[in-house]
Amino acid sequence: MSRYAPIFAKAIAEILGEDEGDVLDQITVPPRKAMGHLAFPCFDLAKTRGTTPPEAATHLEQSLSLPEDFGRVAVAGPYVNLFVNGETAARDIVSDVLSAGPCFGTSDAGGGEKVPVDFSSPNIAKPFGIHHLRSTVIGHALCRMLAARGYQPVGINHIGDWGTQFGQLLAIWEELGDEVRLQQEGISFLLDLYVEFNRRLEEDPEIQERARVKFQSLEGGDGECRRLWEEFRKVSLAEFDRVYAMLGIHFDEVQGESYYEELMPAVLEELESKGLLTESEDATVVDLEDDDLGTALLRKKDGSTLYLTRDLAAADYRYQTYTFPRCLYVVGVSQTHHFQQMKKILERMGRAWHGAVEHVPFGMMRFTDRKMSTRKGDIIYLEDVLNKAADLARETIAKGVEEKGRVAPDNLDEVSRQISIGAVVFNDLKNRRARDVVFDWDAVLSFEGETGPYLQYTAARIASILARYGKEYCGEIEWSLLSGEDETLLLLAIDGLPASLARAVDSSEPSYLADQLLKIASHFSTLYSRRDWKVLSDDETLTKARLSLAAATRQALCNGLGWLGIPIPDRM
Ligand code: ARG
Repeated sequence: MSRYAPIFAKAIAEILGEDEGDVLDQITVPPRKAMGHLAFPCFDLAKTRGTTPPEAATHLEQSLSLPEDFGRVAVAGPYVNLFVNGETAARDIVSDVLSAGPCFGTSDAGGGEKVPVDFSSPNIAKPFGIHHLRSTVIGHALCRMLAARGYQPVGINHIGDWGTQFGQLLAIWEELGDEVRLQQEGISFLLDLYVEFNRRLEEDPEIQERARVKFQSLEGGDGECRRLWEEFRKVSLAEFDRVYAMLGIHFDEVQGESYYEELMPAVLEELESKGLLTESEDATVVDLEDDDLGTALLRKKDGSTLYLTRDLAAADYRYQTYTFPRCLYVVGVSQTHHFQQMKKILERMGRAWHGAVEHVPFGMMRFTDRKMSTRKGDIIYLEDVLNKAADLARETIAKGVEEKGRVAPDNLDEVSRQISIGAVVFNDLKNRRARDVVFDWDAVLSFEGETGPYLQYTAARIASILARYGKEYCGEIEWSLLSGEDETLLLLAIDGLPASLARAVDSSEPSYLADQLLKIASHFSTLYSRRDWKVLSDDETLTKARLSLAAATRQALCNGLGWLGIPIPDRM
């Protein structure tokens, strides 16, 4: 919602003698232009006054006094609608956006507080799964959005590098290990070994015991086991880093689960001394039945610890290191139970901050015709996705040159790369994250419709208009020339960007921001596709006014896309 909503709310609250914030919560954006830019519904008011909603609306409208040049109000049935003054909106919003530049929409609300964001977190010796891609994209956007709101995000890659599966890998390595193949084939060789281990398991159940012993040796610090494990880790991280480099992502902390090995005894001792541990048949557990959360496994009979135990130690470590107001975990919805158990145990341990721990779950990604799964080798490799996306972007650009007479950018490779990121990232972020995402190549790469390339293209198109003008257009602007209804709708959409960012950050939901960017681009397109609306014309005063509006639009799109982690090509 725009800056005018709080002012409208204040005027209403004064008359009704109500709280401004409560009134603001009731204000909505009407679904159709004819109904104005903001609306206050009078149903509740009618109830308390004992009249009908239309009567209450009429009464309110008559006593309402708004600041000068603010706009006009009109009653429509049970609503008091506000039509913002277009000239005022143009002056306020365009000047604001252009003077703030890259800072438009940002704030210092976060007060520099540190917010750990655990994201990506793939497992070594396993390919980067599609759920890791979603986590990476959402987590990266959250970090950037938090930073724009004045927090200091701490991006943490909690690499899965510990656990009994490494015993399995070491056991099968003993027979089939091959250093040369490891170096040449990397993770794909380790995956073969892993698959082979599982195949053997059926013929030779003994191998499970060997794996258990191997993991114990690894935990015990056996030299050869450690050396191999470190090699697996190195090979895997090198592959993950390639993916991160493609997306332009870096982490502030890359700490594997193994890092918390040493911190775990303290956690277990504390749980023990607080009487929270129970011995069950083959494990040490925390009984969470009272909270309907089952039993949480923390240590196996053979002493090896579990994923959850390591997460408890990591949470403590994060609090001690960052004293966070919020601590986010961007992990698929399938781990909801795990995080519920973790939070509950932290609460029982008396961690006052347990409420600040937030699991940020997301749904699955599927192709149009089938579900994606890392099991059974049905894997999609991010590098392939991005490369294919870049190829398609190149084709689309070539088509534009051929069919529409566009000019191809000089740095075609770089631009194609940027578009591929825009395509893949926006396709993910535009959906409410809890929903499953459908991956449809054609839809993802289209320059039209609700896609990343469409937003990038809108911003790039404005850049080329500004370049075509070629001069400084600043100076006095005749704001009344931007007071048309289509202009006002665009301006209000731009002005809604800061609030959509705030909402997106507070609810860890990048799609709110994505929605707002789509609104801005679509209002700009409405203007731009009008026959009677050209930015550049012989009328210098009009040209300047429209250029300033176009520049403000571009600024808003660039800021918003940047917060989502999407680069903006100068030209497409
Ligand atoms: N490595 C885990 C997986 O692939 C995700 C880890 C998420 N982070 C955490 N602190 N548990 O499923």
